[in-house]
Amino acid sequence: MSEFDSVAREWDNKPDRLERSMAIAEKILEAIVPAPSLTALEFGAGTGILSLLLKDYFSEITMMDSSQEMVKVMEEKVANGQQYHLKPLFFDLEKAPYTRQKVDVIFTQMVMHHVHELDLVLSRFREMLNPDGQLAIVDLYAEDGSFHGESFKGHLGFKPEDLSGRLKSNGFKAIQYGPCYVMQKETAEGLVKDFPLFLLVAKGS
Ligand SMILES: C[S@@+](CC[C@H](N)C(=O)[O-])C[C@H]1O[C@@H](n2cnc3c(N)ncnc32)[C@H](O)[C@@H]1O
Repeated sequence: MSEFDSVAREWDNKPDRLERSMAIAEKILEAIVPAPSLTALEFGAGTGILSLLLKDYFSEITMMDSSQEMVKVMEEKVANGQQYHLKPLFFDLEKAPYTRQKVDVIFTQMVMHHVHELDLVLSRFREMLNPDGQLAIVDLYAEDGSFHGESFKGHLGFKPEDLSGRLKSNGFKAIQYGPCYVMQKETAEGLVKDFPLFLLVAKGS
C-alpha cells in the first residue's frame, strides 16, 4: 500500500496542480525538443496531469507510478479520453529495474524528493534510455523541511549542483538546470510560503 493511495481520488481537486503542471510542461518542451516519433516515460506520474498535457508531443507515454490508486485514476482518464498511446503502469522503480522497451525521454515532476534510493533510480533511468535519450527532472530546491513538515522521511529538496554530480557519476552528460516555477504552499504553521522548483535536463549517452 502506498501513502499516495488515499489521496489519489482527490489529487486533481487542487487547481494549483494543473496550473503548475501547465507551466512546467511548457518549460520541458522548451528544454528537450520533443518530436512526434519519440517515446517517453513519466516517472511518478500520479494522476497523469503532466503526461496528459504532453500527450500530443510523443508517440507513446508510459505513465509509471507505484500507487495502485493513482494508476486506477490514470486508467480511467485514458479510457474516457480514448488516449490509448498513454500507458498507465503500476511499477515501483526502487523495487525493480524496468526492463521493457527503452524510451527516448524520461520526465518527472515532484517525485525525486520522495525517492530514498536516489542513485539506484538515477542509474535505472540511464538504463531505460535509448541512445541520445533525455532526462528532465523538476523538483524542489533545497528547503528547510517546511514543505512536508516534521514527519517527512524523504529529501528536503535538492541543490541542483549536487543532483548534477550524482547524475554525472551515473553516466549522464550535458547537464543543465535552472529555476522553472515557484509553488506556494501552506506550511504546518499556517503560513503560505514560496517553494521554488528547478528543471534539470541531462542526456543519457
Ligand atoms: C508528489 S506525487 C507527484 C505526482 C505527479 N508527478 C504530480 O506532480 O502531480 C509523487 C508520485 O510519485 C510516485 N512515486 C514515488 N516513488 C515512486 C517509485 N519508486 N516508483 C514509481 N512511482 C513513485 C507516488 O506514488 C506519487 O504518485
